[in-house]
Amino acid sequence: MADQQAPPAGPDLTKGVSADDFTGETLLGHIGDQEVLLVRAGSEIFAIDAHCSHYHGPLSEGLVVGHGIRCPWHHACFDLRTGEATRAPALSPLTVWQVEQENDRILVRRKREQPKPGRKTPAEAPDKIVIVGGGAAGFAAAEMLRRQDFQGSIVMLSEDSAAPVDRPNLSKDYLAGSAPEDWLPLRPDSFYKEAGIDLRLKANVTAIDTKARHVAIADGSTVSYDRLLLATGAEPVRLPIPGADQPHVHTLRSLADCRAIIDSVKGARRAIVIGASFIGLEAAAALRAREIEVHVVAPEPRPMERVLGPGMGDFVRALHEEQGVVFHLGDTVAAIDGKHATLKSGGVLEADLVVVGVGVRPRLALAEQSGLKLDRGVVVSDLLESSAPGIFAAGDIARWPDPHSKDNIRVEHWVVAQRQGQTAARNMLGQREAFDAVPFFWSQHYDVPINYVGHAEQWDEIAVDGDIAARDCLLRYKRGGRVLAVTSIYRDLASLQAELAMEQGTMR
Ligand SMILES: Cc1cc2nc3c(=O)[nH]c(=O)nc-3n(C[C@H](O)[C@H](O)[C@H](O)COP(=O)(O)OP(=O)(O)OC[C@H]3O[C@@H](n4cnc5c(N)ncnc54)[C@H](O)[C@@H]3O)c2cc1C
Ligand code: FES
Repeated sequence: MADQQAPPAGPDLTKGVSADDFTGETLLGHIGDQEVLLVRAGSEIFAIDAHCSHYHGPLSEGLVVGHGIRCPWHHACFDLRTGEATRAPALSPLTVWQVEQENDRILVRRKREQPKPGRKTPAEAPDKIVIVGGGAAGFAAAEMLRRQDFQGSIVMLSEDSAAPVDRPNLSKDYLAGSAPEDWLPLRPDSFYKEAGIDLRLKANVTAIDTKARHVAIADGSTVSYDRLLLATGAEPVRLPIPGADQPHVHTLRSLADCRAIIDSVKGARRAIVIGASFIGLEAAAALRAREIEVHVVAPEPRPMERVLGPGMGDFVRALHEEQGVVFHLGDTVAAIDGKHATLKSGGVLEADLVVVGVGVRPRLALAEQSGLKLDRGVVVSDLLESSAPGIFAAGDIARWPDPHSKDNIRVEHWVVAQRQGQTAARNMLGQREAFDAVPFFWSQHYDVPINYVGHAEQWDEIAVDGDIAARDCLLRYKRGGRVLAVTSIYRDLASLQAELAMEQGTMR
């Protein structure tokens, strides 16, 4: 909001800038009260909206790669010629503007007509595509199918009661009370009708008949398919302890879960968060924003050490402690009886609500029932096709051959799920595109964003550049001298550069 009220930055581009004043890669200016970015890519100059269509990240601080510009915040990419959001998490295009050069001045006066992507669905394209799952991967696939001009039918079956939402927000601004609910839907309800996407909510798919090529829904109906995308995501692990089934004990995955936590917060004074995971600690930060006293109970000695290492773990702990969170590490909750939680160490904590964030488990029942090859996830090829021809899988359930780590990996990242949904969509149309995106995720704790690119399950060295405590750092996770992953705080450009280097195989 503050952005919108501040006077627009830079020179008035309708009056133009001297070519001598535009010597770098980008120049931020404005047209009326709209901020517009001049971008030099090779010998060409483009003009594009200055803010990312995801969360308004400043593209002037992004990275130009070929004819694209990448957002510094969560690594979306836009085509400078068309404005198309070519990489998630952004899904909506940006406006592109006509650049004119008169003598030595560069002027921008009018929008360019949004060029139609102009793709042709191949002749062998299927008629009927069914998507099971209304989350990150399922939604991104449906949206991409229509972007690709797919004219056939799309049925999206989702067990959720809500249309696809911005799930990462459920443990951040929305839970903290600083984002209104109308920020959550990935698209307004009208989108599905207009795009011809038959979104069926509360539709629990119980079986796939791979021979007859149809799926069965719990209400007894069936839907036939030519291509099927499984994107059933993951579900929170529930604690096998007495009292975990009480109404004030919550897990957090869906909008309904989040609303239930917000309801529990009313009149509450103290919360226990079980688990010092990303979701647990993001929830802790959100609850602190609501002035709830928060106790975090977790068995590990440091939060997030397994993923980010000890230095970042200590930093995250200190960050939360500064905000008043009390940690009970090396401990677990043994039982919950009403407001009393008994710890394994013997202590008792009193709390009005409990949030359990002890990890998730991929939802594989459907894939298992239909005989797909599994290996701690649905095994897919580089094209994201499962062992059953015509059935693809994407998102939290998919284990794919990652060309960067050279391992078969499965991750639980929003951006990866969306990008896999998009690649699977193109491949269901016969495009045969290998999924080769470098994994990326972000996490937000109070005002501190943590970005992570690559994939390192184990490392033998962490090289720290900068100062973690000063919130200005980049950490390289190395094995055998090779950088597998990079995490950073407020080093957005370096994070984008690391992603590019990993793509190009030049990471040092
Ligand atoms: C609160 C929260 C915050 C997060 N924050 C971040 C973050 O900041 N950064 C990040 O990178 N990642 C984050 N994640 C992880 C990210 O949201 C997931 O990796 C991503 O949503 C996975 O997408 P998906 O499409 O595989 O699954 P989901 O988005 O979970 O969607 C799965 C869908 O399948 C449906 N479904 C399941 N089984 C069936 C069935 N049998 N029939 C019909 N429908 C079915 C579900 O109802 C759901 O609609 C967060 C996750 C949560 C829960
Ligand atoms: S703000 Fe640009 S990718 Fe999120």
